[in-house]
Amino acid sequence: MPRSEPIKAVRGVRDILPRDRPLWRATERAAAEVAMRFGYQEIVTPIIEHVELIERVGEDTDAVSKELYRFEDRGGRKLALRPEATAGVVRAYFEGGLNQGAQPVRLFLIGPMFRYDRPQKGRYRQFYQLDVEAIGSASPALDAEVIEIAAGWLRESGISALALELNSIGDDVCRPAYLERLKDYYRPLKSRLHADSQLRLERNPLRLLDSKFAQDQPFKADAPRITDHLCEPCADAWAHVRRLLDAAGIEYVHNPYLVRGLDYYTRTVFEFYPAGASGQQDALAAGGRYDGLAEAEGWPSTPAVGFAGGFDRVVDVMAASGVEVIAAPGADVVVLADGGQESAAAEVARICRRVRSVAVDYEAKSLAAKMRSANKLGARWVVMLSAEEAPRRVARLRDMASGEQAEVAWDELPERLA
Ligand code: HAM
Repeated sequence: MPRSEPIKAVRGVRDILPRDRPLWRATERAAAEVAMRFGYQEIVTPIIEHVELIERVGEDTDAVSKELYRFEDRGGRKLALRPEATAGVVRAYFEGGLNQGAQPVRLFLIGPMFRYDRPQKGRYRQFYQLDVEAIGSASPALDAEVIEIAAGWLRESGISALALELNSIGDDVCRPAYLERLKDYYRPLKSRLHADSQLRLERNPLRLLDSKFAQDQPFKADAPRITDHLCEPCADAWAHVRRLLDAAGIEYVHNPYLVRGLDYYTRTVFEFYPAGASGQQDALAAGGRYDGLAEAEGWPSTPAVGFAGGFDRVVDVMAASGVEVIAAPGADVVVLADGGQESAAAEVARICRRVRSVAVDYEAKSLAAKMRSANKLGARWVVMLSAEEAPRRVARLRDMASGEQAEVAWDELPERLA
């Protein structure tokens, strides 16, 4: 009798099975190739970080306030599973002394992130990001550069119909005065806003602009726009980024309500959607400039810009738009070992592996059953060994497509399979 029900995966997380991996591998490869083509180097940071580091990202950020996986380790340290990579990459940039070398430092990272979000299609509690960061320069050219990388990665993943939304949310110089204007505009409307928005009005009024609540929508159109209230350096940067995108032939739409869910942004913010889906669907990739984050983490003030893209969503869109990637077979060659021939089969497999991927079927099944499994694996060849042939170091090689079969000496197998 089983002791209990079988134990299933944790809610909101999932397995990526071998049949799905080819699409994942294709977009992961595109990500690394495009990033490296722009001179970005790979970095890996830990999945666990101090809770304090993550909180510096912004306590008003959903990913921190509501969705953070926090725990105490056995030594009583307060840790978090990273909800995003930027805070950790900035920490590593200083801790690893990258701030001492040539600037800016261009980095990319591929790995899992964790958010205690409500699970639904496109939203998982463990999900995977491509994170791209250019740290150590305030040049608007880098804002345009990371946008070009995001566009290039999505295009090379087979997603060509894209919508890019762009905005500037100013900086510490111009944003405070703008926020006062925004509060002045919304205060008389307070009672008509959604309860959550009423709370945000004083604490984080910028988020009123990207409110998804139906009752808040009518008031957005007349709200003051931050791009009309930028200080001169922010206005120059905003114009500069747009000029560079035009020059690069990257189309975008100015969305004055785009403010982003993370608190660390300054100036440029952007989001990529599948074309025709913005607002209704979740973004494929998103980011912006975050000149204040290094200082918030306790390091010297250092400008930076970057983005993160979600592999889970990109793979969904690839699959939905019919992107096909040829799945590699489980093995090119399957060696069938008759009873008692295990060590001979292992030796033949070792010889064949010089040129091909090889699996050995050790199961005590009929030849016909073994042939069927080899077919299911997608094997192109089967090598059969019998107790009579093994001592002579010969085997029968079968081409699964043509059905042709021939006796071949073990040492000639690599040549026949090449
Ligand atoms: P984010 O907008 O929170 O930004 O996430 C970036 C992308 O990660 C989203 O556009 C989406 O594709 C994916 N994503 C987020 N949450 C989930 C989820 N629960 N399930 C599946 N995919 C998800 C950041 O994380 C910033 N660190 C981006 C950045 C980098 N800004 C500057 N540098």
